[in-house]
Amino acid sequence: MKILNFGSLNIDDVYTMEHFVRPGETASSLDFAYYAGGKGLNQSIALANAGAEVYHAGAIGKDGIFLKELLQEKGVHTDFVQVSDTRTGHAIIQVEQNGQNCIILYGGANRVISLEAVKQTLSHFEKGDYLLLQNEINANPWIVEESYAMGMNLVLNPSPFDSSIATLDLQKISCFLLNEIEGEELSGEKEPGRMMAVLRERYPSAKIVLTLGKAGVIAFDGEKVCSHGIYDVPVIDTTAAGDTFTGFLLTGLMQGRPMQECLELASKASSLAIGRKGASNSIPTMQEVLEADLKPV
Ligand code: RIB
Repeated sequence: MKILNFGSLNIDDVYTMEHFVRPGETASSLDFAYYAGGKGLNQSIALANAGAEVYHAGAIGKDGIFLKELLQEKGVHTDFVQVSDTRTGHAIIQVEQNGQNCIILYGGANRVISLEAVKQTLSHFEKGDYLLLQNEINANPWIVEESYAMGMNLVLNPSPFDSSIATLDLQKISCFLLNEIEGEELSGEKEPGRMMAVLRERYPSAKIVLTLGKAGVIAFDGEKVCSHGIYDVPVIDTTAAGDTFTGFLLTGLMQGRPMQECLELASKASSLAIGRKGASNSIPTMQEVLEADLKPV
């Protein structure tokens, strides 16, 4: 079984800051580094590291060829990554010393994907294959319609959440991967139990996974609700921790593992990512996850 991840590829410029820049302020960074990133790219690497057969589709500019090469090195199929005349998308990321971040995105090539490219890519997939989407490319409405009509299993991580999510027919999604903010936006509820109840009622045939920061994760696997806590790890950089969670959880589900086991694998993987600087480079391998000696909080 294959998974197509139609998603963003970014160059992440990461500035380590004493504190996030305030309005009107000019502040020097303590450190700078650039990494391969983008929620799409990160999630493809997490899927591949977890053992999935993953195909990445999306677009870069000529300045982003190294992103495609990195995906190839990680074992991701890249035939559907197009090189356009628009510059590669990028992210300006500030990381405070407590590991928290804030991110400015420039869409670039991620925002010029054509309907023709969508149709051409999807023609290589079939009923039953998985399709994963985030919310950093322009083509999601077309992809949802076309892939659903083909009978693919649609998984949505609506991140970063904005008004464009309302243009998607969410009844076509078979699995939602949400953080607290996205859960609140979709359900209109603040309390996690209420969020889950509203989402289950609204999308009765979907699996729903709701990550809750320090409160761990709750998930509906189609039959029952399960939950998992977090691990006690030093917080170095939270960038790509959510993407790591998505890749490991989804690979587990595609492999037919029970949801409870998938939550454990994904929580361990994202805990390891939090302990490392950077985006895609912070994502652990399955071997590292299986060998990790992590203490539950
Ligand atoms: O989820 C982390 C990612 O969000 C970063 O790599 C950045 O590129 C943004 O897309």
